[in-house]
Amino acid sequence: MNMRFDPARGLAGTLTVPPDKSISHRAALIGAMASEPVHIERYLHAEDTSSTLAAVQALGALVQVDGEEVIVRGTGLRDAREPDGPIDVGNAGTLLRLLPGWLAAQEGHTYVLDGDDSIRRRPVDRILEPLRLMGAELHARNGRLPPLEVRGARLRSISCELPIASAQVKSCVLLAALAADGATTVGEPARSRDHTERILLHAGVAIHRNGRHVTVVNTDELVLERIAVPGDASSAAFLIAAGLLVPGSRLLLRDVGVNWTRTGFLRIVRRMHGIVLGDLESERGELAAEEPVSDLDVAYSPLDGTVVEPDEVPLAIDELPLVALLGCFAEGETVVRGARELRVKESDRIAGVVDGLRGLGADIEATDDGFAVRGGNGLVGGTIDARGDHRLAMLGAVAGLASREGVEVQGIEAAAISYPGFVEDIRGLVS
Ligand code: S3P
Repeated sequence: MNMRFDPARGLAGTLTVPPDKSISHRAALIGAMASEPVHIERYLHAEDTSSTLAAVQALGALVQVDGEEVIVRGTGLRDAREPDGPIDVGNAGTLLRLLPGWLAAQEGHTYVLDGDDSIRRRPVDRILEPLRLMGAELHARNGRLPPLEVRGARLRSISCELPIASAQVKSCVLLAALAADGATTVGEPARSRDHTERILLHAGVAIHRNGRHVTVVNTDELVLERIAVPGDASSAAFLIAAGLLVPGSRLLLRDVGVNWTRTGFLRIVRRMHGIVLGDLESERGELAAEEPVSDLDVAYSPLDGTVVEPDEVPLAIDELPLVALLGCFAEGETVVRGARELRVKESDRIAGVVDGLRGLGADIEATDDGFAVRGGNGLVGGTIDARGDHRLAMLGAVAGLASREGVEVQGIEAAAISYPGFVEDIRGLVS
């Protein structure tokens, strides 16, 4: 479906953004691995996270939905049922990469994970290697793509260094490690989001972090009654970008998750001289069980260009398309380096962002692992193709509000993958 977003005169209002997608996936999965009922406060009801609820039900967990609260009655760590057919992960990369960690520990059971056309292009080789080292048997199409077959086994604990900084791969290993035969250590080349670690700590698991390494000790059961899901920092980022770019804007976003591993975008924005006030978590030495939240107060701001270095990339990975958009309006050059991972997201997000914004009048070039934007002229407007990717759909809408002539977004319905009320929310702030 196509939808037009006309230039806005200013965004104003107060809004609560939808619950966090990453944390909702983990809450449902880890809830299903527990033996006692887990109450999830503010579960995200969107396409991706509905796939996770359906998946855990197929594996034998009971799910009760009561508005935003979801109660999951799990099967326990080692008793996931073997469903009759493949598990449909839909479009959800996080489900595709995390779930095999749990399934790998189901001795004597075989599972197949499959999904939509986009998921069939998303690599899974990154999780095959550590899970095989732990003793599971896995088969992927062409050795790297879904459908993915997982044969559960009695798992060994391992020590491994991941070649890429990916919270999905790290989390997969941590979930498998819960049922292994000792302590497992996983190292990553740069810090990535740590929601899995926080929920496991909350569930009584012996887990600790030492710099870029996380060690988790195996356990018999997870003990956790309640998981509170904060507002999604990545969904909030689209509204923040709109507020920063449209002159005269002033927004208040309530209860946004401000875990340090998710606020890389806000640190980049502040470096660009964007005004976003809030009580952001500082970088922590030790793991914490809680997910901090804050209200964020956003005001229109003239911006300056910046350089995003590889270490910052995993901490702002889903917001990098927005850094490109901000760069179009900022004085000077904005460069993102070390973000090759963007090429294997829901779409090739380097190509999607560069072709999309260039079509709206941006002076932007793709590099192998990022992009460079020469800013200051803003955007004229035009048409942008969401390519079935929720973040590109929302990027196009925000670009339209900030452009001179408006933007037609082809495939706006993709926004519902993570933010079902996006169009209503953004239109409500404009009028
Ligand atoms: C996610 C981690 C990121 C991110 C994705 C969600 C997660 O992927 O892009 O949208 O929930 O762990 P990688 O960890 O593979 O970079």
